[in-house]
Amino acid sequence: MILKKSFTISYSEFNAPHELEAFEQKLIEAATNVAQNAYAPYSAFKVGAALQLSNGVIVKGVNVENAAFPSGVCAEQSAISAAVSNYPSEKPIALAVAAYTNGDLTYEPVTPCGNCRQVIAEEETKNGNEIKIILCGKNKIIVVEGLKNLLPFQFNKTNMES
Ligand code: THU
Repeated sequence: MILKKSFTISYSEFNAPHELEAFEQKLIEAATNVAQNAYAPYSAFKVGAALQLSNGVIVKGVNVENAAFPSGVCAEQSAISAAVSNYPSEKPIALAVAAYTNGDLTYEPVTPCGNCRQVIAEEETKNGNEIKIILCGKNKIIVVEGLKNLLPFQFNKTNMES
């Protein structure tokens, strides 16, 4: 017997940061500001990520590229590595991402690459909480409540336990 099933993916769209909560606005500002520090001489695509930790601290990261392309790292992973390194017992509760091309914030929000989604999945699984993901573009801001809305059928440690 075939059972047809489906996932429902949901997200919210906003026109501008002021429509979001104060802490989310601060996170967006952190992501857009830190993007200027990206080291992206090969793609010229400067990405900033800002993680809100449960203790109120914001940890930032940027993409750091390399002449040997696979050695480069994305902004989201930079931010998560910095958070785990410096605040190992704090849980990330929200993540804002923003990217610049030719000095301008991208028109549409940038969504995390597949590899970054996997890294975010590990954070959610190990800490036992969902992370609010805020994707910022000039045209709109997308807010996703938890990675399940970006990565259905995710692989995590529970797959190895069942
Ligand atoms: N990049 C990120 O930092 N985050 C993403 O979610 C997408 C891509 C970086 C990787 C590379 O340095 C540049 O953007 C172009 O792909």
